[in-house]
Amino acid sequence: MENLPPPVATEAVLVKSSPMPDGAPTVKGYDFNEGIDYHKLMTSYRRSGFQATNFGRAVEEINRMIDCKLQPMSPEDQHHMNLNPCGRERSNCTIFLSYTSNLVSAGVREVIRYLVQHNMVDVVVTTAGGIEEDFIKCMAPTYLGDFALNGRDLRDKGINRIGNLLVPNENYCFFEDWVMPILDKMVAEQKEEGITWSPSKMIARLGKEIDNTDSIYYWAYKNNIPVFCPALTDGSLGDMIYFHSFKNPGLVLDLVEDIRRVNSQAVYAVNTGMIILGGGVVKHHTANANLMRNGADFSVYLNTASEFDGSDSGASPDEAISWGKIRKTAKPVKVCAEASLVFPLMVAETFARREKEYDAFYKIRP
Ligand SMILES: NC(=O)c1ccc[n+]([C@@H]2O[C@H](COP(=O)([O-])OP(=O)(O)OC[C@H]3O[C@@H](n4cnc5c(N)ncnc54)[C@H](O)[C@@H]3O)[C@@H](O)[C@H]2O)c1
Repeated sequence: MENLPPPVATEAVLVKSSPMPDGAPTVKGYDFNEGIDYHKLMTSYRRSGFQATNFGRAVEEINRMIDCKLQPMSPEDQHHMNLNPCGRERSNCTIFLSYTSNLVSAGVREVIRYLVQHNMVDVVVTTAGGIEEDFIKCMAPTYLGDFALNGRDLRDKGINRIGNLLVPNENYCFFEDWVMPILDKMVAEQKEEGITWSPSKMIARLGKEIDNTDSIYYWAYKNNIPVFCPALTDGSLGDMIYFHSFKNPGLVLDLVEDIRRVNSQAVYAVNTGMIILGGGVVKHHTANANLMRNGADFSVYLNTASEFDGSDSGASPDEAISWGKIRKTAKPVKVCAEASLVFPLMVAETFARREKEYDAFYKIRP
């Protein structure tokens, strides 16, 4: 008798395939026989699988946001009064860009500065380090180090480590010398002119004072892009405000005014898109503002956080849909990757390729 494998095993392995649907995408990577063409290489990611495919989907989603933004508003929307309390001119899509502090410590700062300089995004959300590190870099550099440098040795030398970056303590002294007189002026204006300060108003004021084209917040001030930082005191800026409060007490930063201002960016927008780099406060603050309009129309998350711990950082776009923070009709994308590696490439495939379209858009607008 012929020696045959057990039928149970053959039946289990040789299950008949249903035909794949017509036009089902196939997997294919980049062929370097075509030469070194970075745009083609990035385009090939869409069909490569895993996070490369998510990268390609994110590029498509960001390009959809930009398409929507550069479309003229409907006549009805054009005639609608601009209710934005920050006074930024309306467009057909309000793009929120949010990022954690470490990305400003890293070279992503220059990529963000480019986007803000060219008025490509409409609302910025970050944490305290994301504000102060930008200003400090106008005064003294951040250095490359190593993840493995010894903390005790660094402490003895007065050098602080952020991942594989190094910031000498003296940089914060330069920052202190610069910011303290501005805090004095803010207190005086509050007491004498009745000006009310909020974190976003303070950031705009600092952007005006820095008067340096390398700075993200200089351009945000120039282009009237509001910058929100609900936890503005959780960094060196908070240390400065703390010390200053002994010398010259009385400064008030109004969080209630800012929650109205940030939510209004979403509520009075025609459409909205969110590009959120990293998690924590920046992710939730942006998504929560978009809840006020029943969800963002376009959405890209780029972070390394996972879902299993139930954290908001790791929460998927689908979880945000359940809360109404992203619309049910949206096609949101999450790219699981480290942002310093991936975000510059994303910008290269989206905003940076469309600079001329943006220039034309701003020229034809009154
Ligand atoms: N340079 C700094 O990082 C710095 C400086 C001063 C103060 N702080 C303060 O530390 C606090 C916590 O910082 P935070 O809320 O900005 O974020 P965080 O550093 O706590 O990061 C939050 C989450 O974002 C994700 N993430 C962070 N970096 C990422 C990356 N490079 N790529 C992909 N995903 C990434 C991770 O999931 C992380 O758990 C804030 O209050 C901030 O002001 C930070």
